[in-house]
Amino acid sequence: MTDGIFVGGGGADYAEAQELLLKYANRHGLIAGATGTGKTVTVQIMAQAFSDAGVPVFVSDVKGDLSGLGAAGAETHKLHAPFMERAQRIGLDLTYSAAPVTFWDLWGIQGHPVRATVAEMGPLLLSRMLDLSEVQEGVLNIAFRIADEQGLPLLDLADLRSMLAWLGENRSEVSLQYGNISPASVGAIQRSILMLENEGAAGFFGEPALELRDLMRVDDTGRGAVNILASDKLMQAPRLYATFLFWLLSELFEELPEVGDPDKPKLVFFFDEAHLLFDGTPKALVDKVEQVARLIRSKGVGVYFITQHPADIPEDILGQLGNRIQHALRAFTARDKKNLKLAAETYRENPTFSIEEAIREVGVGEAVTSFLEKKGVPGVSQRTLIRPPASRIGPLTVAERGAIVASSDLGPKYDKPIDRESAHEILTKRAEQAAAAAAKAEAAEEEAEVQEREYRTARRYTGARVSRSTSRKSSSDEGFGEALTEALVKELKGTTGRRIVRGILGGLFKAK
Ligand SMILES: Nc1ncnc2c1ncn2[C@@H]1O[C@H](COP(=O)(O)OP(=O)(O)OP(=O)(O)O)[C@@H](O)[C@H]1O
Ligand SMILES: [Mg+2]
Repeated sequence: MTDGIFVGGGGADYAEAQELLLKYANRHGLIAGATGTGKTVTVQIMAQAFSDAGVPVFVSDVKGDLSGLGAAGAETHKLHAPFMERAQRIGLDLTYSAAPVTFWDLWGIQGHPVRATVAEMGPLLLSRMLDLSEVQEGVLNIAFRIADEQGLPLLDLADLRSMLAWLGENRSEVSLQYGNISPASVGAIQRSILMLENEGAAGFFGEPALELRDLMRVDDTGRGAVNILASDKLMQAPRLYATFLFWLLSELFEELPEVGDPDKPKLVFFFDEAHLLFDGTPKALVDKVEQVARLIRSKGVGVYFITQHPADIPEDILGQLGNRIQHALRAFTARDKKNLKLAAETYRENPTFSIEEAIREVGVGEAVTSFLEKKGVPGVSQRTLIRPPASRIGPLTVAERGAIVASSDLGPKYDKPIDRESAHEILTKRAEQAAAAAAKAEAAEEEAEVQEREYRTARRYTGARVSRSTSRKSSSDEGFGEALTEALVKELKGTTGRRIVRGILGGLFKAK
């Protein structure tokens, strides 16, 4: 087994091998640079090198060009000659080969569908996905809690909608235990779900849900699976993109055992267009992601963010990214220059060159690199000519991709949705009983009103003060209800909420 992955050649004549040590690959990383400077090819060569070293990887493929990992490069390719020349300069014996790719797609078109249940997503991430207010989030928490208590599986969005409808209809009973729930809040959540469905997310929620071990496969030649998530369409729904990737991280965190500092990672993630993960994400959620990123290291998971500028990543997270590949940054405006300077300052100095100048000057497919060394200390920065890829530059054809998806043994497991009995079906059945009960309750209420009228009339005749309150009415007052809900949100976020808001980002009652 090698102890590092070869990234390129550094030093004065690019002849010194630059390696990212597998031992420190779980200390996360950053790949940054202006558009067209070589970020995607860097991800491509790293993903394939991890795979060759037996480490499975997961990459989000924003432009479709990473699908080229699934085919070998070719001597007939127009870039063959420059690749050979580049390989020679850095002392690499370049041979072409394809990586063992698995294609995934939230919509199930360009790959196997990726699904999660509503319960697994959990109220916190779902609230973010639905862009809910704090009060609405409180109502969603109650919905989850009641579903849990009553054994109503929340699998797809139909389940969630039925659960909320039930909550709306049974406000008075629920209020006795949890505080009132305003119809306005329930309505707002229902509308947000509708919008999410319009974004095409309905198919994402349900079963069969993704099993993480299917991302962590190693083939019979010892190569790690290269999982490629089609993300072109996903980019148009940035909140879905962000919450989905956060969910994946949190699931890994929840499910994987503690391994300390392994010889090589169990899985490496590459998140492209990382700025979309953080744009507009509430501070509370960013804090949790920061926490998960820090803790997931000891589960052997490395996370690599890809973005144009390091400043796109929140500072607390940026500080955790030990392995760095900085492609060229432009410096046209005063602000560019300032940002470039800031980026350069985060690198360990090299007495032989100015890092700031190097970041401005490096050519396409060249970068300032710094990888963690002994004891996890950042290595001296190098100007590195990145190696050419062994797999194809540019996307697979639709036919090539289709052939890979069709021949994958994961197809039978995931390609067809399953709709088993869950909250929606159970509540629909119960609705009949509820309707009957409601009719009965209405009759009883009428009876009570008749009695009250008679009582008042009797009191008037005796001249006494009417003192019976109409508290039943005032308890459904909305302001009061929202205040109680808010109190409950606080309670749920405290100790009593642990059971529901599983772990750090977690969902609820996992599919066992
Ligand atoms: N390591 C490399 N070896 C050989 N050629 C490279 C390398 N890196 C980049 N190139 C060349 O540069 C082109 C652009 O690189 P790439 O697509 O990786 O840029 P990018 O930073 O991802 O751009 P964008 O921001 O537009 O996505 C590639 O198509 C390839 O021709
Ligand atoms: Mg790119």
